[in-house]
Parts: sequence; structure tokens; C-alpha cells
Amino acid sequence: MKCRRCRGPAVIEVRRHNAGFCRDCFLHHCREQVRKTIEDFDMLQPGDRVLIAVSGGKDSLALWDILRDLGHDVDGLYLGLGIDDYSDESGNYARAYADARGAKLVKVDLPTDLGFDIPTGSRVARRAPCSACGLSKRHLFNQAAVDNGYDVVATGHNLDDEAAVLFGNVLRWSTDYLGRQLPVLPAGNGFVRKVKPLVRLGERETAAYCVLAGIDYQVEECPMAAGNRHLGYKDALNAIEDQSPGSKHAFYFGFLEKASPLFTPEAAREQENLQRCAQCGTPTTGEVCAFCRLAERARR
Ligand code: AMP
Ligand code: FES
Ligand code: ZN
Repeated sequence: MKCRRCRGPAVIEVRRHNAGFCRDCFLHHCREQVRKTIEDFDMLQPGDRVLIAVSGGKDSLALWDILRDLGHDVDGLYLGLGIDDYSDESGNYARAYADARGAKLVKVDLPTDLGFDIPTGSRVARRAPCSACGLSKRHLFNQAAVDNGYDVVATGHNLDDEAAVLFGNVLRWSTDYLGRQLPVLPAGNGFVRKVKPLVRLGERETAAYCVLAGIDYQVEECPMAAGNRHLGYKDALNAIEDQSPGSKHAFYFGFLEKASPLFTPEAAREQENLQRCAQCGTPTTGEVCAFCRLAERARR
């Protein structure tokens, strides 16, 4: 197979685009997909200080690399979640990337800085691990950005992640979640802007990007996520994509274009009823936000 762009020998095929690429043209293709996403969704403005949440995995490290290449002012944020060896190793990959390139990495360690870890947090809150973890991550990403003067938080959610979340939200018709499942959430109400610039790339592409760009990443998946619903949705979508390449893209981008506007008014109305958490000031529906309640119970 030949590279679509330079006609040299291809090293990777992307069936969704019906194209093969050589190394350099594939890296260029990934950068272009991210550049286009940022532009189409108005994700970043000149002069924005960007904080990228890096887990040490392929997606967030590829995104950090691409945002740096595209000339954005971007620092990393790593959260030590206290999930045994997995967290230590993930942190090492994030640190190694930053050190090798002289990039700045902000670190927040849950056990040391907040007095609890995710396994304890999910146990006491009687939530599934990924739910307690997701709740904590969203809170701490925003907190770190506000505390350190960043305008926007970027995460490495890719097309596979977003299509799987959409699949779950549609299966249950969770209209409130559907109304907020956007690649950009604007700043407001104590929250900084949140962006997902990788939504045009699948996880096979971000993994290939890291390998071809020489970026070492944590290959192992989080041990606490094993068997969760989300992974089942990914498997189902992969089977569909295999049969008809481009399905995930059509599903997610079709939703954004045709269905998402139907659900955003409901989500916006919910935002209006928020008050400030009595402990941390984060907007919340109750008196104390879900994160502060979880943290308090976990510390006991
Ligand atoms: P996940 O929720 O594990 O699918 O991760 C989604 C995104 O959240 C990643 O691409 C990262 O941007 C971010 N993220 C996940 N884990 C961490 C972590 N421990 N520290 C900082 N960012 C993270
Ligand atoms: Fe959050 Fe595994 S990374 S539960
Ligand atoms: Zn080429």
C-alpha cells in the first residue's frame, strides 16, 4: 500500500479514511485532525493557557505532543490516584515525557495532598470505581486549572471513548448527559473551559502516533476498570466498525450535528439551578458537592 499523501510505502492503514500513510505523513495526518477539531469547535484562542490532563497513557501523551507541535501554550497535569503500582507507573510515563522535553508537569497526589485514594473513595461512596474516579478527576482538573491560572483543561478523550459514552447514554436515554456530551464545554459558574481535541482520532491511531513518534506510554489499562460497561460498549462498537468502517465517526458526529441541540436546553436549565458547595465553592445541586462528600467519607 502507498501513502495517500506522498506515495511512498505506507506503514499504517486507516480504513475509516480508506487511506494508508507513511510515518511522517501519518504524524502530519494526526496533527491535522487535531488542528481541524480545534478550529471547527473553536476550542482554543490565541494566548490561552492550556492545562492538559495526562494519565501517562497513549491518548493524553499523544495529545500533549500534538498541542506542543501546533504551538499551543500547554502544561501537563498528572493526578496520582493511589491505585497501587498502576498509578506509580502511569506517573512515571507522564514524568518521563515531560522531563525529556523540558515541559512543565503539575502533579497532585490524592493520598498525600488530599488524604485518600480512589480505591477507598469508591468503597466508602458505594460507587463503581470508575464513577468515583471520574467524579474526582473532573473536580480536581478544574480545581488545578483555577488554582494555577489556566484558561482551559484539555483531556485525551478520543473517538472510541466518546462513541462508547454516547452509546451508553442513548441506550438509557440519559437526556441530561446527552445535553452535556459536547467536545467543548464553555467556561462559567466557576468552571474553566473543557475541550476534547482528540475526538476525530481513534485509539488505534493515538497508539500508532506514540509508537511512530517515539513516545513511551503506559500500555496496561487501569485494573479497576476491568469488566465495566464502557468496555462492553467499546467491544460492541468495534464489531460494528469492523463490518462497516466509519460507523463510529458517523454515530458521534451525526449526534453532534443532528441530535445534540435537542438535549442542550434541558442541560442548560439544570445548570441554572446550581448553588455553590459550602465547602469548596464548586457549583452543585446540593449543599455540599459530591466530591467533598466523597472525600470527607474516604478520609474518615
Ligand atoms: P479515562 O477517564 O481514564 O478514560 O481518561 C480520560 C482522560 O482523562 C485522559 O485522556 C486524560 O486526559 C485524563 N486522565 C485520566 N487519568 C488521569 C490522571 N491520573 N491524571 C491526569 N489526567 C488523567
Ligand atoms: Fe479511574 Fe481506573 S483510572 S478507576
Ligand atoms: Zn507519506
